[in-house]
Amino acid sequence: MSLKLAVGGKGGVGKTTITSLIARSIAALNKGTKVIAIDADPVANLAAGLGIDESKPITPVSELSDLIAERTGAKPGTMGGFFTLNPKVDDIPDRFSIEKDGVKLLVMGTVQQGGSGCICPEATILKALMNHLVLARNEVVVMDMEAGIEHLGRATSGSVDALIVVVNPGKRSRVAADKIRKLGKDIGIQNIVVLGNRVRSEEDKKLIKDSMPDYEILGFIPEMDEIANSDRNGTRPFDDITTIPDELKDLTKKLIKLGS
Ligand SMILES: Nc1ncnc2c1ncn2[C@@H]1O[C@H](COP(=O)(O)OP(=O)(O)O)[C@@H](O)[C@H]1O
Ligand SMILES: [Mg+2]
Repeated sequence: MSLKLAVGGKGGVGKTTITSLIARSIAALNKGTKVIAIDADPVANLAAGLGIDESKPITPVSELSDLIAERTGAKPGTMGGFFTLNPKVDDIPDRFSIEKDGVKLLVMGTVQQGGSGCICPEATILKALMNHLVLARNEVVVMDMEAGIEHLGRATSGSVDALIVVVNPGKRSRVAADKIRKLGKDIGIQNIVVLGNRVRSEEDKKLIKDSMPDYEILGFIPEMDEIANSDRNGTRPFDDITTIPDELKDLTKKLIKLGS
């Protein structure tokens, strides 16, 4: 199955939580499906939600200096000069990810952007890898776009099946969603949908629906003690992923239908 999902939204709305739950439940509902979760957060934190041991640090791809030098022909930290703009990256997802329960975690890391239009080796590798993941792999890829969806780039946007904009109930959610929708449209993403998270009541749902009548609402995720408790205990929520609430199961099924 091929399914490419990007999860965006402003800080703290639940992107990382939802990315890990979606990735895990797709892997559980469609046994045998390859699922890759992409951590594009400068402060990587997707591991916890996937149940991946955080005590063994995962080196972000952007910090694999030797590999970057070998593949691009230029030392990271350098700019300009001659290096290839389409380095080999197709082995990176399998070699540098960590797997748990059918979900592979790949941590991208960040690149210090030296002004606009930086074409440093690290940026080149990350861009090539993102393109490869979205365009070339017949797999499920769920991307936690913490650092902003502009990292997706124009080349990949046509192959993103959905940009899921996570919002919490509140008057300000619309402003954040509008910004992300504009960015998404600018790079050419076709399908932009809203997911209401931390919903406590029917009024909360209504608040989101009424303030965003021009958005397709993918669904609502309730405020859950299980998530708050697991955060406190440093464990992953719903260790047995088959026990997730129906709202999450329905969401997973809807998303699977977007795939091909
Ligand atoms: N549905 C939910 N119910 C309860 N707590 C939630 C829920 N979704 C997210 N949280 C909590 O909200 C906080 C922020 O979530 P996180 O996924 O890290 O947001 P983001 O990645 O958007 O910054 C975390 O403490 C998380 O446990
Ligand atoms: Mg996050």
